[in-house]
Amino acid sequence: MTDSHGRHISYLRISVTDRCDLRCRYCMAEKMRFLPRNQLLSLEEIALIADRFIERGVRRIRLTGGEPLMRRDLPDLVRRIGRHLADGGLDEVTLTTNGTRLADHADALADAGVRRINVSLDTLDPAAFAHLTRGGDIASVMRGIAAARAADIRIKINMVALRGINEDMILPMLRWCDAQGHDLTLIETMPLGDTGEDRSDHYLPMHEAIAPLRSAHAITPLPSRTGGPARYFSVEGMKARLGLITPLTANFCDDCNRMRLTCEGRIYMCLGHEDHVDLKGAFRTGGMAALDREIDRALRAKAPRHHFEIHGDGTQGATVRHMSVTGG
Ligand code: GTP
Ligand code: 5AD
Ligand code: SF4
Repeated sequence: MTDSHGRHISYLRISVTDRCDLRCRYCMAEKMRFLPRNQLLSLEEIALIADRFIERGVRRIRLTGGEPLMRRDLPDLVRRIGRHLADGGLDEVTLTTNGTRLADHADALADAGVRRINVSLDTLDPAAFAHLTRGGDIASVMRGIAAARAADIRIKINMVALRGINEDMILPMLRWCDAQGHDLTLIETMPLGDTGEDRSDHYLPMHEAIAPLRSAHAITPLPSRTGGPARYFSVEGMKARLGLITPLTANFCDDCNRMRLTCEGRIYMCLGHEDHVDLKGAFRTGGMAALDREIDRALRAKAPRHHFEIHGDGTQGATVRHMSVTGG
């Protein structure tokens, strides 16, 4: 699949639910109104749509949310999609999770073919975690990470860099990741959806976020770009690989390889745009032929880039919908 800007689409991110058991301050408002369950795609429908994307050339699938493990039977969906690993149709099926329910599911996920997983963890301090997530218990995440490791699943920690909240924890987090055998990706916070708080206070440009780290360790760019937003670095004296995701300070959209399917059956072509294609109705009435037509429409309409950057007049591009709807 190729979009109208010549980019090959080989990566599908599927948000299986907009619900989450945490309320991270940069992601959700304290009181969120979630989609009614009857508007969601069934897991069977998600699997059929994933099959078609795979037949059309998608090589990697990531399940996200919200929190994907909020959806009961998620390991069944992974197993269903994971069948394509055996027949060579798919290179990877993976998840981005907050980790709170990972301990219960790690073995099943590993059995279903998951080899690596991204866990969102913005601090190592239990009190700071409880504050940032509005009530979360870091011990459940640590149990989840331990269970995934025991099941031989590689872990990448995703940390959103936040001024005044976790900026002093970036170097400790990198050291912890290295000691535990995890990779770390730092992310600039994006203006997505209303969180009920003023995000601009928390926005921390990446060069500032990594300054303490740079003065302690030399970092060297690695050649590997995976078509994803992260640029990867090796860190002097460490095995851990460092990824930097810089939607605000260094755009990465030129080689974008992804599309997003949401739990209510929409395709969003870009995290930073409201345009989408509504698959659900077309798929339910018109089956695979209609699905193909909608996928083609999405390919034609995919925007060249997002516009989250801070503009000359100090304003920032923003998107109305929450990350938990589109799935990161
Ligand atoms: P891998 O490269 O497969 O490890 O995945 P990833 O880093 O893309 O996946 P992950 O779910 O860990 O994404 C990390 C974060 O990167 C997301 O939560 C978003 O904040 C950001 N991100 C991912 N894809 C995009 C994108 O297409 N555009 C923008 N602006 N941000 C993205
Ligand atoms: N900006 C950047 N990253 C975000 N995430 C959630 N909301 C935002 C935001 N506004 C991240 C989470 C998780 C991933 C799914 O998205 O921390 O790692
Ligand atoms: Fe939940 Fe992830 Fe959003 Fe936190 S960032 S509220 S864990 S979906």
